[in-house]
Formats: sequence, C-alpha cells, structure tokens
Amino acid sequence: MTVYLTRRERFNAAHKLWVKDWSDEKNREMFGKCSNKNWHGHNYHLYVTVKGQPDPVTGFIMNVKDLSKILKKHVVDKLDHSNMNLDVDFIPEGMQPTTENLVVLIWQQIEEQIKEHGAALHCVKLYETENIYAEYYGE
Ligand code: NI
Repeated sequence: MTVYLTRRERFNAAHKLWVKDWSDEKNREMFGKCSNKNWHGHNYHLYVTVKGQPDPVTGFIMNVKDLSKILKKHVVDKLDHSNMNLDVDFIPEGMQPTTENLVVLIWQQIEEQIKEHGAALHCVKLYETENIYAEYYGE
C-alpha cells in the first residue's frame, strides 16, 4: 500500500532568463518578459509530495513537521526573497533559473533528507504563475 502526502510552500523570488552570448533581441524573443534586464519576480507555489506506508502506530508516512522543517531549511529559506541568478547556493552559476531547472534542483536538495525520515520523495511541483507549472519525479 502506498499513500501520497503533499505539503505546499510559497516563496517569492526574482530572476532573469538570459543567455549572455545572445543579442538583446534574441534574448527578448526567446524569454519575453523574463529577460527583463533589471530582474522581475514571481510568487512561486511549491508542492512536494512524499510517499510511503502509514506507520501502524502514528498513522504517518513521515511527520509533516519534519517535512515542513526540511523544506524550510533547504529550499524556502534559500529561495524566498532571493535573486535566483545570484543568491542561491544550489543554483549553479550560469544555469537558467527556470521552473523546469528549479524542480530538479529542489529535488536534489531534499531527496536524502526525506529518505532519512522514512519516506520517499515522489514529486516536486512548482507553479511559477497560476497557469504554468513544472513537475519532476526524479527520473
Ligand atoms: Ni520570469
């Protein structure tokens, strides 16, 4: 039996999508408003889903307080109110801080921590706007 448990977190962060070897025009064409030279922000909604079997005594897959602490320490505190092109230690220099890249990087930040608490990470889902999100399942 496998049960899935999801925690939502929110953070606000700035970024710029930009390839420095490209012309301003080509950057604008590819990245649109996200190429704005002086940055811009998004209100991100992050959904992290873990899976496992409910413990027969506690009924928990893992303690949600621990999940919350892991997300806060390893993800939200690092990203919230940051400039993701410059400030975040787990975003490699030169990597575009797109929603697609962020879900993979966030997965890498928390996979082991969740394992240590007896559950398995199932999905990292990140909304950049209410109409666009990316998902990663660790494949
Ligand atoms: Ni953007």
